[in-house]
Amino acid sequence: MEIIIRPTAEHAARLVARLVVARVRTTPRLVLGCATGRTMDPVYAELTAAHRAGEVDLSRLTTFNLDEYVGLPPEDPRSYRRYMRERFFEPVGLPASSTHLPDGMAPDLAAAARQYEQRIAAAGGIDLQLLGLGVTGHIGFNEPLSSLMSRTREKALTLETRQQNAELFGGDSKAVPKRAVTMGVGTILDAREVIMLVTGGAKAAVLAVATEGPITARISATALQLHPRCAVIVDEAAAAELEGLEYYRFLYAEEPEWAPYRADPDL
Ligand code: GLP
Repeated sequence: MEIIIRPTAEHAARLVARLVVARVRTTPRLVLGCATGRTMDPVYAELTAAHRAGEVDLSRLTTFNLDEYVGLPPEDPRSYRRYMRERFFEPVGLPASSTHLPDGMAPDLAAAARQYEQRIAAAGGIDLQLLGLGVTGHIGFNEPLSSLMSRTREKALTLETRQQNAELFGGDSKAVPKRAVTMGVGTILDAREVIMLVTGGAKAAVLAVATEGPITARISATALQLHPRCAVIVDEAAAAELEGLEYYRFLYAEEPEWAPYRADPDL
């Protein structure tokens, strides 16, 4: 794992978008794992802008989202399908047949979850998985004590998670569905590359625990420490409680792989 610290949330999101663009340039039919949440909004805005400006063609991607609420139809404005369609799929011209989200409306959720895993496998696996970080330290909706080997399945949401995501539900955490279908921690770890974006002071404490603390099923993001190719891109506010700050700053300033990015004042 590498932690990369950028001055602001905008810089951090732009760097994530730039990394996605670089991967798509080498692999135009990239299989991209998508995340939702406010943190990801500027990433999709940047990607859409790059596509429209003709800098990259994102219309040939195949996408698999991390998660979806149980019981929200795809047309519901609060569903993750709708979030993705508005912010990313439609603006870059991705046909519905290339985009996948877990089916939270399936009569048999367990069977649909197994089928989701099969679809990922049939696409050749996920090349690059994007992640945000939940307030409980979850990735996807892998709430505390999710098995670190788990696969896509239905999961009950914690109260904290429902409070964190209440904004889209009129601020009422009781209106947030109690369950979701999410890729498992094992599913996420199978991606060939992972990039997690974490911004804002509210995530500083959980980011330090997730990246520098011991690996534990209580905090599913700690499993990323096992991943061979994982970058955690953060802003200064989120980095505030990290112990290894000096080394992380050194990585971005000195490591050759970051050279093309650090020369750019926008990043
Ligand atoms: C939800 C999603 C996570 C996401 C998290 C962070 O819980 N299931 O995948 O990382 O929200 O959301 P935000 O970016 O709005 O803080």
